[in-house]
Amino acid sequence: MKRIILFLIYLIIQIIWIPIAIIGLIIGLYKEMYLSRKLDISFSAGQALQYRWIMHMFDTRTDSNTIAFTKKFPCESHFGLWAVMGPFIIMHKLFGFKSTFNSKVDFGYETLQKIAGNRVLLFDRIIEKYIDKVDQIVLPGAGFDLITNKYTKDKDIKVYELDQVNTIKMKLDTLRKANIDHDWITYITVDYNNESWSDKLLESGFDKNKKTLFLWQSVSLYLDEELVIDSLKKMKQLGAQGSIIAQDFYSKAFLDGNISKMAIKNMDMIGKLGEPWKFALDMSDGSIESINNFLELCDLELNKNYQFGVNLGLENFYNISISLI
Ligand SMILES: C[S@@+](CC[C@H](N)C(=O)[O-])C[C@H]1O[C@@H](n2cnc3c(N)ncnc32)[C@H](O)[C@@H]1O
Repeated sequence: MKRIILFLIYLIIQIIWIPIAIIGLIIGLYKEMYLSRKLDISFSAGQALQYRWIMHMFDTRTDSNTIAFTKKFPCESHFGLWAVMGPFIIMHKLFGFKSTFNSKVDFGYETLQKIAGNRVLLFDRIIEKYIDKVDQIVLPGAGFDLITNKYTKDKDIKVYELDQVNTIKMKLDTLRKANIDHDWITYITVDYNNESWSDKLLESGFDKNKKTLFLWQSVSLYLDEELVIDSLKKMKQLGAQGSIIAQDFYSKAFLDGNISKMAIKNMDMIGKLGEPWKFALDMSDGSIESINNFLELCDLELNKNYQFGVNLGLENFYNISISLI
């Protein structure tokens, strides 16, 4: 009965809200799709910012910096997101109304819709686990992720974030406008396709003799396979003994649309906006075997692997892997 009443309240708010949602949607799409392309900012990085915004608003992950950042970020609209999701946010805050946005799933029980949230939470867990065991953290392809602002402030740790020139410039500009502390983080501009990110990292003060945590979240899928192999080999050469690499792997079946037509449509759209999906592993004989074989090509060994959806029989679509150097 309670659920029915709550649903009716939600329905009333949603109907009244329609004009606001339409305005928000138009503003949001203009900023996310048109402005990001015009300013040559990574659209996929903006999308990643968006689901961290959603996670904060629906109390599945606290990250007030992401909210402050989004308010000042030219390629996303805080109002637009609020306008589109407002009825759900109101219902969540007032009544704890269950929706897809505030429902958490345990690790191993991810459906396709739940990859993004659990991916962020798992990378949080990884940084929490290793933060006091390393001297440096490197994010090659940091985008608008503010994980290091959240976890490394007041820590005696060096942080290096790399990304393409316009994305880094806009990140810095937005951090300043949003008054988010970041002065202990070194931001490095690089285009992996034409420049050596490892040389740039070393030129910026990175110390090869120190233990490092490499966080490579949602980047390799946008790179050619040779570049992925080369980058992982470089991480191995750069990290002192005891260093850690955390990264994710998608399966070819996912990339080919065999797992979800919806997901592939979304990736097609991201491709049309300039970031085609290029790299995935053939996991048809099992993800662990395939990841092991691939890491061998990079002179690395798998230490721990998280198979998303494993308890739902979906283990061969998305994995997060840890290799120790
Ligand atoms: C999906 S975003 C992920 C960003 C961040 N790791 C996160 O989780 O929010 C992919 C990132 O890879 C970066 N990237 C893709 N190709 C690149 C290249 N050739 N050189 C430098 N960065 C690149 C993009 O600019 C973008 O920020």
